[in-house]
Amino acid sequence: MPLDHDPDWWRSAVVYQVYPRSFADADGDGTGDILGIIDRLDYLAELGVDAIWVSPWYPSPWADGGYDVSDYRDIAPELGTLEQADVFVTKAHELGLRVLIDLVPNHSSDEHAWFQRALAAEPGSAERDLYLFRNGRGADGDTPPNNWPAMFGGSAWERTESGGRPGQWYLHLFDVKQPDWNWENPVVADEFDAILRFWFDRGIDGFRIDVANSMAKAPGLPDLPVDPDTGEPQSHTLTGTAYMNQPHVHDILRRWRTVSDSYADSELGARIFVSEAWVTPVDELAKYVRDDELHTTFNFDALMCEWTAESQRNVINLTLRAMGDVGAPATWVLANHDTTRVVTRYGRPVTGARFTPDGMDLESFAGIGSVPEGVTDLGLGRKRARAAVLLELALPGGAYVYQGDELGLDEVEDLPEELLQDPTWERSGHTVRGRDGCRVPMPWTGSEAPYGFGPPASPPWLPQPDRWSELTAEGQDGDPRSHLSLYRAALAERRCNPALGDGGLIWDAEVPTGVLSFTREPGFRCVVNFGPDAYQLPVGAEVLIASGDASSRSVGADEAVWLRI
Ligand code: GLC
Repeated sequence: MPLDHDPDWWRSAVVYQVYPRSFADADGDGTGDILGIIDRLDYLAELGVDAIWVSPWYPSPWADGGYDVSDYRDIAPELGTLEQADVFVTKAHELGLRVLIDLVPNHSSDEHAWFQRALAAEPGSAERDLYLFRNGRGADGDTPPNNWPAMFGGSAWERTESGGRPGQWYLHLFDVKQPDWNWENPVVADEFDAILRFWFDRGIDGFRIDVANSMAKAPGLPDLPVDPDTGEPQSHTLTGTAYMNQPHVHDILRRWRTVSDSYADSELGARIFVSEAWVTPVDELAKYVRDDELHTTFNFDALMCEWTAESQRNVINLTLRAMGDVGAPATWVLANHDTTRVVTRYGRPVTGARFTPDGMDLESFAGIGSVPEGVTDLGLGRKRARAAVLLELALPGGAYVYQGDELGLDEVEDLPEELLQDPTWERSGHTVRGRDGCRVPMPWTGSEAPYGFGPPASPPWLPQPDRWSELTAEGQDGDPRSHLSLYRAALAERRCNPALGDGGLIWDAEVPTGVLSFTREPGFRCVVNFGPDAYQLPVGAEVLIASGDASSRSVGADEAVWLRI
């Protein structure tokens, strides 16, 4: 496939997320690498996606899976070299695949040269002003400058020391090894413009912006209000707080848009952004994709939505209306490297948050991580995940596929504690296991671990469960009933069916409660049955693809079909 040069390619694109440490290990050190991704490019082209997003590949101490960047202009030696990255981008383009990479602008690693210089410099110095250093409170300055909690647990402030004496504190919204940049300092803003250009000039098609809602902080870094009952600071990160979704964050996004637009006349065209912003309600989120800001934004409301017809219909309506209001395409995403695998999530008694016609019922939101509740039914989860991908790929806009979801991989919930790497595990005092269970390396071939992830004698950085011998890409290839075959068929249909991708939908009236049915012109219909009763297909409709067995012309509970009408 030649590269799609339509300047609007991103409005309909299906983007495959590669988590590089866990994708394919060519050199046998147990960690995935760029040569491994290059080896599997044909697989991705054959799968039928339009673009690849590679999670951070920069030099990093890996305190947060590479989201702690120590050099924004290089490749982690564990993953490869800049030259290999260039080869990867060239080959991907030859196969018609666009390439997005991650930008982590809220924080760097504490091992970044500028942070090291800031630590060595005096309070009040220009070096310190690149980050958020403050004096502590209290007579000895031993109380943190404010009461903000870190996302991974504990305080968001860490005290420094110099010459054996305690000093200033620095802000880290995430891990202690992830100091926040000071975006009020123009040097920081200029540096990130230069980083964008560095990669755009190397042929990168766009960036996924990590925590795009967090760079701007409330002026003066004020304390959060305290809950009178618990004494804990109240931090509503989804709806906005002193360090999330501050209005002036949009100035930064507008600045980046001018950088990406300045490439409009280049061979690859203007470059694009997708924002990672866990922001609800969706009208707040839509501000991130106004026409002079970012291009698209992950639709986490839909990811967090429970598996019921009513909630799904509400979240779809809310999304399409809000994105339509700002002229941006919707995106649909079932999972990523931070969330419980979709097969497992949909197999749980509680599958997500409830959505009313007005938005998320915040009381019903139980968090994005792996929080097992009740017994998980993986068979049910896999069935629903098959239906869910047909729904996702039929909806207007673009879509994201997290690596391994096309194989129906489930969350690995019993990783040995001593192998857990997510900083959440340590910072929660070993009470929250964190996100490693969705980051277990891919099973490609064979019947024994490492299933072709790396050479036979190289144990992967996280162990794969025995049950994955049934789920390798090789084993699913050619089996028309496999998860992989369903993905391939749906992606192939999506490519050639003019009704799919960007556009609109019309809900079909007169379907029973529990069934969602919508039509897209010309002549396409998607039916999803959330159960419990089987739904008889309309007379004359041709089944294009079914998540279950549609030979009796009915759609069973937790199944979906695509129809030509
Ligand atoms: C984003 C990333 C997550 C990371 C965090 C801090 O949410 O997806 O993996 O831990 O940002 O960078």
